[in-house]
Amino acid sequence: MVLAPRSAGQESPAVAADYYTFLDDEGAIAIHRHDTPAPWINYLSNGRLHAFVSQAGGGFAWWRSPTIFRLTRYRMYHLPTDSPGFYIYLRLPDGRVWSPTFRPCETPLDAWEARHYPGYTRFLAEKDGLRAELTLFVAPDSDTLVWDLRLDGEAGPVDVFAYVELSQLGWQPEMLYGYYLRHMLHVWHDAEADAVFYLFRHDGHPRVNEVPLVYFAATAPLVSYAGDRQGFLGNYRDERNPLGVERGHCGDLELFTGEPCAAQQVRLEAPGRVTFLLGLAPGGLTAYPQAEAEVRSTLTALRAPGAVDAQFAKLQDWWREHLDVFDCQLPDADAQRQIALWSPVNSVHTGRYSRAVNVDAPGIRGFGFRDSCQDMLAIAYRKPAWAQEMLYTLLGQQYADGHVVHTFFPEEREAPSTSVHSDDHLWLPLHAYALVAETGDLDALRRSVPYLADDSRSAGPEATAWEHLLTAIRFTEAHLGTHDIPLTLRSDWNDIIGKFARKGRGESIFAGQQYVVALRRLLSIAQALGDNAAAEWLADCLQRQERALLACAWDGGWWRRGFDDDGHPVGSADAVFGKLFLNPQSWSIISGVGEPEQWTQAMDAVREQLNTPVGVKKLTPGFATWPEETDPFSGYAPGCGENGAIFCHANAWVVIAEALLGRGARAWEYFTQMMPHNALRTAGLQRYQSEPYAWVSNIVGPDNPRFGWANVPHVTGTAAWMDVAATQYLLGARPELAGLVIDPVLPPTWPGCAITRHYRGCMLDITVHNPHHVEHGVTHLTLDGAPFDLSHGPCLPPHLLAGKQRAVVEVTMG
Ligand code: NOJ
Repeated sequence: MVLAPRSAGQESPAVAADYYTFLDDEGAIAIHRHDTPAPWINYLSNGRLHAFVSQAGGGFAWWRSPTIFRLTRYRMYHLPTDSPGFYIYLRLPDGRVWSPTFRPCETPLDAWEARHYPGYTRFLAEKDGLRAELTLFVAPDSDTLVWDLRLDGEAGPVDVFAYVELSQLGWQPEMLYGYYLRHMLHVWHDAEADAVFYLFRHDGHPRVNEVPLVYFAATAPLVSYAGDRQGFLGNYRDERNPLGVERGHCGDLELFTGEPCAAQQVRLEAPGRVTFLLGLAPGGLTAYPQAEAEVRSTLTALRAPGAVDAQFAKLQDWWREHLDVFDCQLPDADAQRQIALWSPVNSVHTGRYSRAVNVDAPGIRGFGFRDSCQDMLAIAYRKPAWAQEMLYTLLGQQYADGHVVHTFFPEEREAPSTSVHSDDHLWLPLHAYALVAETGDLDALRRSVPYLADDSRSAGPEATAWEHLLTAIRFTEAHLGTHDIPLTLRSDWNDIIGKFARKGRGESIFAGQQYVVALRRLLSIAQALGDNAAAEWLADCLQRQERALLACAWDGGWWRRGFDDDGHPVGSADAVFGKLFLNPQSWSIISGVGEPEQWTQAMDAVREQLNTPVGVKKLTPGFATWPEETDPFSGYAPGCGENGAIFCHANAWVVIAEALLGRGARAWEYFTQMMPHNALRTAGLQRYQSEPYAWVSNIVGPDNPRFGWANVPHVTGTAAWMDVAATQYLLGARPELAGLVIDPVLPPTWPGCAITRHYRGCMLDITVHNPHHVEHGVTHLTLDGAPFDLSHGPCLPPHLLAGKQRAVVEVTMG
């Protein structure tokens, strides 16, 4: 059975409102029910120690790598869903027990709410006059997950139990042979620190010299503790009703073999505050005595009055600085919230976790090369130092012939995956351009970085970052096909497109368009650097590639996707499956290859054939059996994944393309229909399932009965690209080498908007007036009251801002 597409607004907002409310004044979301259709998570991190936590307190913590340094357990894929997590039990003298996170006890409460903020999560709960406020965050200066609990109200003594299930650090070894490895661990109580200590003594750990000493402690003296999960929970029990809590004592159980946990009990004689601290000290198996000393001194520092509050304030400062770089006031409050708050929050998470870790993704995928380059597009304008560091890391994963690894593992130091793709290395110029356009610091490209040696492990010869970028172009020049466009190789950006190119002769039009964008970016850098020889060569490559695309890419009604091994067009009106692919349509405009009539015709075909109420599909018709029943293009079920799903990442390019065409109404419609809060209400919360604040990778398309189910939240390129699409193309504050372009594209109904944008040391207060209700075009621009000459476009050169800390920009559209 195939469901008809649901129409926009089918689910009443009231249904969604039962589950959540955005608290815009606080920059938070309040979640009113623990039983959301999927865990709705938040990431807590200081860049080294990380955790995610759901609205029900589920989640896990890891240090540097979720592949090899998982501190606590989380059961991926298996029931009971979303467990275990960071659990607290409040036990009253009469034996009543409840949890501020609602789970695991699930005792009915008088009031309950979970709130996710950038970088921290807070639970508010009340029962029988006792109120609890639990805040979870990672301390910026100490690798510690802080559980800050405040109780108030009418109650006598309260016993507070805190519990986590510990992990064997390596996710895969634990799955494979944890039943042996559990003989290699020790959980004990360190009297000096008054803390539970955990050491996993597996000498086969891949980073045995860095194995951390884990601790769980409190700011109040421990009444009891347990390191033995079974001893604490009891036979055939689970986290819902631990025996240790029922008895009112953890049992003081050390563990030398078995399933580890860290449980502790403190007693508050009257409601007040206690903070639990789950953290670690690096050390390695041979150096753990030093690690013990380090933990003791960390705990002394964190237990000092004001220390936890100071860490919390510092965390908030980090986020405030990050978010202040770009802010906006828009007539659409939902879009404003998404653009100014949740998209950049999401971009930080993808920047940190690539595609690796969420409630379904166990975190073993490392960093995708193309993925990280793209993720940095949304980091470069807010935290350029981070984007620069990542650029050098990525350049270190490039071979001397210009191609790059496909996936790499900087923390795990596993061998990278080395399949050769047409696109991976071509994202580097976009990343590098985003960085230098933001900072103007061309010296960043003069720094010397080693290539990756052919053994894919050691450092090879060194070259400047600029030379690395040119080498990427040389690689593509050396791998053009019979139509003079890039050979697809293993794939282009689209993972499965390589099935058209198994014999190595298939060609990708999308990769050709991406190549054009890369060439344009590098050409402007070459000119800025004064590297005339490179500029001449890049201009020649650019001209040839444009010519090649123009000669073969147009199908008559839209752009083709490429050519298969036998030279047959892919993505053509004559095809049975996959007549129309999305990406070449949007990228024809992004690359500027083609004529304006072709661009509008192509985007109109997208509108007619690919659009749905919650986003644009990747292709149509989805592949069923082609090219062969037994060897189809895709094993994906209809409407799923890369086969006709609504692939959200690619929707951001649709937004950008329509914005570049100046079609403000459409560009904003594509953006807003997919915004999580809107798509959730359109599809219906129980169908959409995912968070109303996090972008997802894909939404099941209309060819599938689960049309509208949103998949893979948070860790997706959608986040960075939607962030860039909104701030730089819709609202139009786009850094270019020549300066900051201010060229908004708006829905014609909007009278204007306001933006604040930090750029090269100056905070710009930009007011956009749209008196004639147009969709694009700037007719007047003033800087601090002085008219700005628009003959070279609305681009503010940096020298006009030099020495200013704040400037006022008035933009009039017409
Ligand atoms: C998800 C992959 O992680 C990403 O690298 C790829 O570009 C997209 N799928 C599209 O195929």
